[in-house]
Amino acid sequence: MYSAISKSAPLLARGPSFSTTAMASISRITVIGGGQMGSGIAQVAATHKHEVTLVDVSQEALDRGKAYMAKSLKRVAKKKHAEDEAAQSQFVAEIMSRVSLSTKPQEAVSRADLVIEAIVENLKVKQDLFAQLSKAAPQQAILASNTSSLPIGKIAELLDSQRKQRFIGLHFFNPVPQMKLVEVVRTKEADQEVVDSAVAWVKAIGKAPAVCKDTPGFIVNRLLLPYMMEAIRLLERDVASAQDIDTAMKLGAGYPMGPFELCDYVGLDTIKFIVDGWHKDGEGLKGNPLFASSTKLDELVKQGRLGVKSGKGFYDY
Ligand code: 3HC
Repeated sequence: MYSAISKSAPLLARGPSFSTTAMASISRITVIGGGQMGSGIAQVAATHKHEVTLVDVSQEALDRGKAYMAKSLKRVAKKKHAEDEAAQSQFVAEIMSRVSLSTKPQEAVSRADLVIEAIVENLKVKQDLFAQLSKAAPQQAILASNTSSLPIGKIAELLDSQRKQRFIGLHFFNPVPQMKLVEVVRTKEADQEVVDSAVAWVKAIGKAPAVCKDTPGFIVNRLLLPYMMEAIRLLERDVASAQDIDTAMKLGAGYPMGPFELCDYVGLDTIKFIVDGWHKDGEGLKGNPLFASSTKLDELVKQGRLGVKSGKGFYDY
């Protein structure tokens, strides 16, 4: 039964209740995947005094991840220590000193309290990675995936039951240093103590947790993707221009970005990948017209107009 919660309760207190028996503190984090999400997660954890190891397949990929972090930290440092360049550099250096880089996943997880995977959205690749990591990570470690659309339970499928109890989703949002939310995704097998520990850790890194079940899109993407697809369909039906739809949602609904700006920001290939997957065989979503393919989206992706990252999407950059 639904029970109402007072609107006056502070944001963090309004979240799902959690016990105080969470596992001893999480201090050593290994992040697998040095892309924008992985490096953002590493940056935020290091900012909050955690010892972080960032893992990727090559030194080149790690250097790119390190550059993302340095750029984002410089932005924060400029605001924190305006006019004082030495203090800015020291701020960045101090945080970066807590981040180690590695191309050896098994070695990198051997002392981890928490492992967060943020690699390519491919189920088989993720399953194989975790099968490999589970041979090396401490038994008490929490294993987590930052997937935005794949079922957490499926990613953990090759693991034994003990590991499954310590496996959850930790879904961050782009840009990670700026977006406050982390969805903590609870599978049927996950221990409550693991969920509680993850919730406590999310708060410890200055974010706000929202706990949810392992269903397609969790909370945010389950609501955001239909919104984006409906916006694209408005455009296909020539109801209004992309600019006017964006203006309408920014000024009429208070969104920081309009749906087309957001589509370009997230990546049109990513959006297509998510909706196609759900339409084909998402649990409870198969054949749902909300996620049916869109000619406009398919065309843009085919032309390589993927959004901000490729310089062109619904808009040119
Ligand atoms: N690192 C550090 N700080 C950053 C940053 C970064 N990468 N990106 C932005 N910021 C900071 C800026 O320094 C600035 O800080 P200030 O307000 O203290 O000066 C603040 O964020 C605002 O940035 P800007 O002034 O450059 O630009 P905007 O005001 O336009 O904000 C935005 C940019 C934060 C991206 C804002 O437009 C926004 O919130 N957009 C919506 C983003 C969103 O919806 N993200 C979720 C996408 S869905 C997702 O990720 C799920 C996935 O699974 C698909």
